[in-house]
Amino acid sequence: MTRTFLSLSVAAGVALAPAFAAPALAQDSASAEVTFTKDIAPILQRSCQKCHRPDALAPMSLIDYEEVRPWARAIKQRTGLRDKQGVMPPWFIEKDIGIQGFKNDPSLSEEEIEKIAVWADNGAPRGDPADMPPPVAFIDVDEWEIGEPDLIISSPSVQVAGEQPDWWGAIGEVQTALAEDRYVAAVEYKEVTEHRGSGGRDTVGALFVFHHATMGVVDPAASEEEQARARLGGWPVHEVGRNADYFNPEAGRRMPASARIVFNNTHLHANGADTTAHLDVGFKFHPRGYEPTLNERGINWAIVDIDLEAMDPDQQLETFFVVPEPLKMTIFEPHLHAPGVRMCLEAIWGRTREMLNCAGYDHGWVRVYTYEDDTAPLLPAGTILRLVGYFNNSPSNPNVPDPRNWSGDGQRSVDQMFINLARGIYLTEEEFAEEIAARREKLGIERGDLVVGCPLCGLFEETPAETDASE
Ligand code: HEC
Repeated sequence: MTRTFLSLSVAAGVALAPAFAAPALAQDSASAEVTFTKDIAPILQRSCQKCHRPDALAPMSLIDYEEVRPWARAIKQRTGLRDKQGVMPPWFIEKDIGIQGFKNDPSLSEEEIEKIAVWADNGAPRGDPADMPPPVAFIDVDEWEIGEPDLIISSPSVQVAGEQPDWWGAIGEVQTALAEDRYVAAVEYKEVTEHRGSGGRDTVGALFVFHHATMGVVDPAASEEEQARARLGGWPVHEVGRNADYFNPEAGRRMPASARIVFNNTHLHANGADTTAHLDVGFKFHPRGYEPTLNERGINWAIVDIDLEAMDPDQQLETFFVVPEPLKMTIFEPHLHAPGVRMCLEAIWGRTREMLNCAGYDHGWVRVYTYEDDTAPLLPAGTILRLVGYFNNSPSNPNVPDPRNWSGDGQRSVDQMFINLARGIYLTEEEFAEEIAARREKLGIERGDLVVGCPLCGLFEETPAETDASE
């Protein structure tokens, strides 16, 4: 292992790499039988049952042994995909490279994946019923991941015929009755079906007709120009399978009094049944009197002209971005379309070149990855960010409807996108130095340590020992 890895594991608290963990586990599993009640149920409770329970998103419930047993082999297969398309739970960060430490990470440890495999291969034994953990109290399907919102707004309703072409456009706007400015801590979208006719498809996303929706928050007191810009969006985008968005605690987003919420760019997609639906958007506010001290915003990339060949499983695109001011990057969000299978983000600073993160990609599951406060990349001005997208436009990618087609840029899922919807906070040099000093202190970083994502963290002069000059 390289020094980079070792320092990172100490500094950022990452789990030991699989290469280290596997031999120890092989011994453990040989000596103690892996059972459903003792070993598997706790994993399912933590990482699966949120979706795999009655009336939730997933196709089957994974609560009781009787429900889980028939799926043992499928569970082994899906969890064993690790960071690849199809993995369960849907979370694609590669764990053997780059920064580890994201908020609300539901993924399984290498040890848990191994346990599931051993359990399935052993005939998926139930084990001692006394080992069964108490059931998890679920929030209602209608409840919100961010907690009870302080403001819920409903978009205008849309009607989508069972069989109609994809549609893009504006669906209107909503006037809030907000009496004063507030700052938003978290946002969550929900698609609400008002009416659903008979029929329908069996594919992922088939419960939904909104494939994406952008949201703009317009301040009626702002200048015409600012209002026009705000209408374009700029708030987190809704996507099928999207999790909630939490803003950096010091960078709450302003929701002005009497704000108008504008849905200017919506993608509707037929699901086989005549459907009427709308979006509910829940906003969690900071307490009154809160003032943000930081400004989190989108980090924009050059868009490349996309040119994907037909029937080619292994294609790459890259694009670069030079960080203009010291940056704390708070969010990594690969956004590709159907052929997309992976994205990597690399930072180049001086002679240092390091991979910040790689993640698999599955267009059925668009995920946003929010760094923990002490793992968020701290990048000096002038850092070059290199983004690489990997595309499989061939029959081995089940997300692609017809890989015999060439494809280029566009809005439809069968057209292409290649974007990192990154967010971050530009800092002054002083704020940046403070962030780095705080991280050194918190993680016990020593001079010369290489900390992935923070090229300056290990670069500092040793404080000279107290010497008595008079001697
Ligand atoms: C965010 C919601 C969510 C979470 C969390 C989740 N699943 Fe799923 N799961 C789904 C949905 C939706 C599908 C069907 C679509 C698909 O395959 O992507 C699915 C499909 C599956 C399948 C394939 C079913 C089939 O028909 O072959 C298995 C097996 C599975 N999940 C197991 C798990 C396990 C085990 C976990 C936890 C380790 C888990 N899932 C976590 C939503 C979820």
